[in-house]
Amino acid sequence: MDVFVGITGASGAPYARRLVQALLAGGNTVGACFSGAATQVSGQELYGDLRMERGEVIDRWLADTGLPAERLWDPHDFGSPYASGSARWDAAVIVPCSMDTLATIASGAGSNLLHRSASVALKEDRKLILVPRETPLSTIHLENLLRVRRAGAHVLPGMPAFYQMPETIQDMIDFVVAKVLNLLGLEQSLLGEWDAGTKPATAPGHG
Ligand SMILES: Cc1cc2nc3c(=O)[nH]c(=O)nc-3n(C[C@H](O)[C@H](O)[C@H](O)COP(=O)(O)O)c2cc1C
Repeated sequence: MDVFVGITGASGAPYARRLVQALLAGGNTVGACFSGAATQVSGQELYGDLRMERGEVIDRWLADTGLPAERLWDPHDFGSPYASGSARWDAAVIVPCSMDTLATIASGAGSNLLHRSASVALKEDRKLILVPRETPLSTIHLENLLRVRRAGAHVLPGMPAFYQMPETIQDMIDFVVAKVLNLLGLEQSLLGEWDAGTKPATAPGHG
């Protein structure tokens, strides 16, 4: 599967890093793109430095994920295949998805590759998964979420569950990433590994 992973400046950078690692481990093709704000938040959330230079964040992130540098797109590179409906990629995941990017996608407008890729996914009937993160949510946020859902996007909030008794932050990250992989229709072992351990198995039917 060829998946575009768009990373915005919402909180939740660890979800994106883990998702790219899992997609690559599963033999998928990944194209990734950071919005302008995303490297700042990733600098803080992954490396503890909100002021880290964009280039340094990207270098460290590429080393962490194993994504080849040529598979990371500039947010203003509209020559990327992920900007085109003619290119045969399969799905786009915006993770985490800020309320700004959500609003832009919901409006049908766009000024970067993340917006364009989401718009292409909607018009071409390809899978689009948004992982929004904000709290509390205003009426405008909620209306935008409903709007993108009605247009065909999947809305998968970055909401870890607690019934599995997570012991680490990594457990909570893996829970959300496993949900994304499930929605993409991909095999995932993140929750399987969890259930195989000493933790209690999930009760069937829980979301
Ligand atoms: C540390 C930090 C955390 C943030 N968390 C959120 C968040 O959870 N949700 C959100 O919508 N915006 C959040 N923001 C604000 C966005 O980064 C900002 O609205 C930005 O314009 C989003 O642009 P983008 O969608 O192009 O990435 C955060 C900003 C910073 C610096």
